[in-house]
Amino acid sequence: MHLFDTLYVKLSAILLGLFLLIGAAQVTLSRHFADRYHLELTQRLNARVAAYVAGEATLIEHGRANDAALKAVAHAAMTINPSLEVYLLDRDGRILTHDLGDGALHRDRVDLGPVRNFLVGDVSLPLIGDDPRTPDGGNIFSAAAIRQNGHLEGYLYIVLSGHQYDRSAHAAEVGDTGRLAVVTLVGCLVFGLASALLIFAHLSRRLRRLTSAVNAFQDESHTEGSANGRVPGDEITQLDAAFGDMRARIGRQVAQIRRIDVQRRELLGHVSHDLRTPLTALLGHVDALLLDTTVNDTQRREHLLTARKHAIRLNGLIGELFELARLDSDAVELHTEVLPLAELASDIVQEFRLRAERARVHLMLEVGDPDSRIDADPALIARVLENLIDNAVRHTPSNGAVRVRLDTLDRAIRVSVIDNGSGIAPADLPHIFDRGYQGASNTRSATQASGLGLAIVRRILDLHQVQIEVHSQPGAGTRFVFDLARPATGSRPAIADDRPSAA
Ligand SMILES: Nc1ncnc2c1ncn2[C@@H]1O[C@H](COP(=O)(O)OP(=O)(O)OP(=O)(O)O)[C@@H](O)[C@H]1O
Ligand SMILES: [Mg+2]
Repeated sequence: MHLFDTLYVKLSAILLGLFLLIGAAQVTLSRHFADRYHLELTQRLNARVAAYVAGEATLIEHGRANDAALKAVAHAAMTINPSLEVYLLDRDGRILTHDLGDGALHRDRVDLGPVRNFLVGDVSLPLIGDDPRTPDGGNIFSAAAIRQNGHLEGYLYIVLSGHQYDRSAHAAEVGDTGRLAVVTLVGCLVFGLASALLIFAHLSRRLRRLTSAVNAFQDESHTEGSANGRVPGDEITQLDAAFGDMRARIGRQVAQIRRIDVQRRELLGHVSHDLRTPLTALLGHVDALLLDTTVNDTQRREHLLTARKHAIRLNGLIGELFELARLDSDAVELHTEVLPLAELASDIVQEFRLRAERARVHLMLEVGDPDSRIDADPALIARVLENLIDNAVRHTPSNGAVRVRLDTLDRAIRVSVIDNGSGIAPADLPHIFDRGYQGASNTRSATQASGLGLAIVRRILDLHQVQIEVHSQPGAGTRFVFDLARPATGSRPAIADDRPSAA
């Protein structure tokens, strides 16, 4: 997993971004409110300055501004508070005179709206009025109406927070309280971020452990031929994919277990039937011997022979069941050896020769290279050949032929058991390797067979990791083919002198 694909890094990055955003917003907002508060406070404290100054002198006389008087009061006011800018306005807001130098103003009148609101009182502060020193800026102010004999002559308009004061105020703010606020804020953010990262680290460590456990489990079980490998992405993506994968696999396995269960039930049914039939027959003959007093010697021998036949049949059946159970158990071990297959095949063909002759079936062994060796469990491979040859001889009519062919390939010996007998119906073909399955030609009680032979064959070849194929045409014959691995070159032991020749 790439580092930047981990959930922890993603979450941390998102959180860091979020905290930076909150920090920036917090700084901007508190700056704004601090400014507002500063303006409100200044305006409230200085609200009565204009009224006080206006009461000190007669600033307008007979409609004319008294310049000298204004300069004097402005001077007095500025001595106390240098940030004040004093203007004298006429009734319409035109600036009559002021205490600033020439050319300092950018407008010649002041909007009277805010001034009237200020004079009425009962408005929320800060109240911003025109600042004549800027073309369109505003500032807090104090104002007073100038009356003579009850007549409104004009207004005294005092801008409170001059430019210079403004700048120094800001500098002071950032210098002390501001710095403290910023430090506190940054401290809080860093603390919050650090604790969140710790919690994330803890949570994501557990998630990562879970993910790697699930991935390890996936890797182990991928040998079973499940779908894809690991998906790219963070822990949650991987868990999601792994969960999907597992769900699919569990589904497949449950289906497989159900199938196997059904097969086992059927097998149990078949087997109990198969066991009971010869056992009942056997008991019948034994009872006849015991109860029938009129039995003569020939009849007794007849009974005994039949009973023996059924006993042999029972013995064989139980042997096959045990064999299959043993091959199924986890404890089964392959005792592999490097051996010449032709020799083994020749021995087994020899075992069947008498039976084939009796059935007038021509049994042949065709060997390409008699020296070719396989790396396999000889006892189990012998069992495979026996079961296949047994079936072939049994399903081939007289004058038919059964051929066992060994062809040496690059890495394997190809074994074919070919007959020109009855063949297998297409409907039976997919099932012949199932346990207890017998083709339509074999009615259960009529034959000596139990339908376990090919199941044993397939189980043994499975253990050798070998696939078996069957090709069959009803009436024309059947061919079973599989490849047995030859040992890796260089490990050929000395060859015995008495090599088998083609039978
Ligand atoms: N060479 C063959 N020719 C025709 N049919 C065959 C051949 N081999 C197998 N079959 C069919 O496949 C079925 C299953 O074979 P399998 O060897 O498993 O059981 P079986 O021979 O009936 O019993 P068992 O081998 O346990 O005595 C047989 O019943 C038969 O119908
Ligand atoms: Mg068989």
